[in-house]
Amino acid sequence: MRHLLEVDDLTGAEIARVLDLAEVAEPPQVLAGSGLALIFEKPSARTRNSMEMAVVQLGGHPVYIQGDEVKMGVRESVGDVARTLASYHAAIGARVFEHDKVEGLAAADVAPVVNLLSDAAHPMQALADLLTLRQEWGELEGRTVAYVGDANNVARSLALAAGLTGVKVRVGSPPGYQFSDTDLDRIRSVGTDVTVHDRPQEAVEGADAVYTDVWTSMGQENEAEERGRAFEGWSIDSRLMTGVAQGGVFLHCLPAHRGEEVAAEVIDGPSSRVWPQAANRMHSARGLLAFLLGEV
Ligand code: CP
Ligand code: NVA
Repeated sequence: MRHLLEVDDLTGAEIARVLDLAEVAEPPQVLAGSGLALIFEKPSARTRNSMEMAVVQLGGHPVYIQGDEVKMGVRESVGDVARTLASYHAAIGARVFEHDKVEGLAAADVAPVVNLLSDAAHPMQALADLLTLRQEWGELEGRTVAYVGDANNVARSLALAAGLTGVKVRVGSPPGYQFSDTDLDRIRSVGTDVTVHDRPQEAVEGADAVYTDVWTSMGQENEAEERGRAFEGWSIDSRLMTGVAQGGVFLHCLPAHRGEEVAAEVIDGPSSRVWPQAANRMHSARGLLAFLLGEV
């Protein structure tokens, strides 16, 4: 049984296959007559809707479950939730605070588990990011993406996904918000060519894409003020974008905060690809499910 808890649960070749499946005109009906359980302990606009629609397009029926309804680990054990849902559904997706909850669902080994964002990882986002960049560039191999901002769940999955597909990574974050050595070891372990920078200008220099995310992630709201101070000077604005390669594009997983991590002139400007990127959440989700439920 295969799970997607982090994007390196797939090989580079498997990611390429997922991206190919994301673009097939007639999606295989691998979920015909089946359900997919979607547990959300945190809010979502893109992930819930893209997953629900991907399930429908594969012939299945999505069931949205609020975290408070099942209260994993409180009302009953994470394993018992997995065993229960697996008796109705072909797979389980979960958006959780602690990554060990998706690990707990997978450990029950009763249905494929897809991480829909945890404090550690956001693999479904990384697949959409790669699809967007592949559509932009034709080929991923040999390009460079600069991630500027909090070295968080989105950054971790992006760096792994990039490395697995031959994209070089430059990461720029202020002190205290950088990847740990453990993160860098894991990112490098899949062959990622990654460099770390402590100035945003240095990180974006010559990059083919610049990527950022919010300074304060879900669950960190009480740190917002402190983070706002730490990230002063780290906004992606048009001046910073002058350092990128010719034709360089801007990506953001969304939700975005204009005037904080990105200036309106960039996210709403000609180099922005955030709307195709958001749309690709559905296509890449469909590709992933078609692969996980139809080909392994
Ligand atoms: N990018 C992303 O995961 O968005 P949502 O939080 O709206 O799902
Ligand atoms: N890093 C953000 C991503 C939101 C899609 C968060 O975890 O809230």
